[in-house]
Amino acid sequence: MERLQKYMARCGIASRRKAEDMIREGKVKVNGEVITEMGYKISGNDIVEVEDKVLEIKEKRYFVMNKPRGVISSSNDEKGRQTVISILPQELRNYRLFPVGRLDYDTKGVLLLTNDGEFMNTLVGPTSILPKEYLARVEGEVTKNDILQLESGVEIDGYTTRRCKAYIASVDRKNNSSSVGIILREGKYHQVKQMMAAIGHPVKRLTRISFGEITVEGLAEGEIRELTPHEIKRLLVQSQAKNVK
Ligand code: URA
Repeated sequence: MERLQKYMARCGIASRRKAEDMIREGKVKVNGEVITEMGYKISGNDIVEVEDKVLEIKEKRYFVMNKPRGVISSSNDEKGRQTVISILPQELRNYRLFPVGRLDYDTKGVLLLTNDGEFMNTLVGPTSILPKEYLARVEGEVTKNDILQLESGVEIDGYTTRRCKAYIASVDRKNNSSSVGIILREGKYHQVKQMMAAIGHPVKRLTRISFGEITVEGLAEGEIRELTPHEIKRLLVQSQAKNVK
């Protein structure tokens, strides 16, 4: 909950004093209703209008979430399932955050959230070479030859994937499954699942363990933390630079 005039000031519409004048003059609506009460408090879901224009917070914010399985990576879901936005703390709802790229419903791990569209495009647009590391539990015993195939590119939907790095993390003969790590510098639809299926090892479980240098270390499932200015800068540099380690 936040005072209406403070929220208006954060949206850059006016100073707090000026915002108070506007409220007094009946120029401000909350959820379609004119509010003239000075201490009025709003919550994340409230829509504030000044002279019929909806306000939005201009401040740019950048977060990493440890996305749990069973949550959709979009702002809303027509089937009413939980989304990465619906599980955010209430005080962040006003920032109109959205996910940077997507993770499948049943994939967990590192997911960035921001309200900066340009930042998102730089990180996940077609020219980005930002490395993203996944750990996949797959069916069957993965061999060195399978890894070579992944690394040199496999065909998915008529597209040959770019060269990448992959490794065998473990092989579980008893359960006829393996854990495979893969570091991609692109992001096609269901890319990891499609690549594993293409080499005959369908994915059973998938986790994104890093996005650039960002991990979910210290975050419980569903938790978020704000990125530091240094982390934001590194993500932008790593998305574009050639030969970045
Ligand atoms: N590749 C997939 O197949 N699924 C994800 O969620 C991310 C990458």
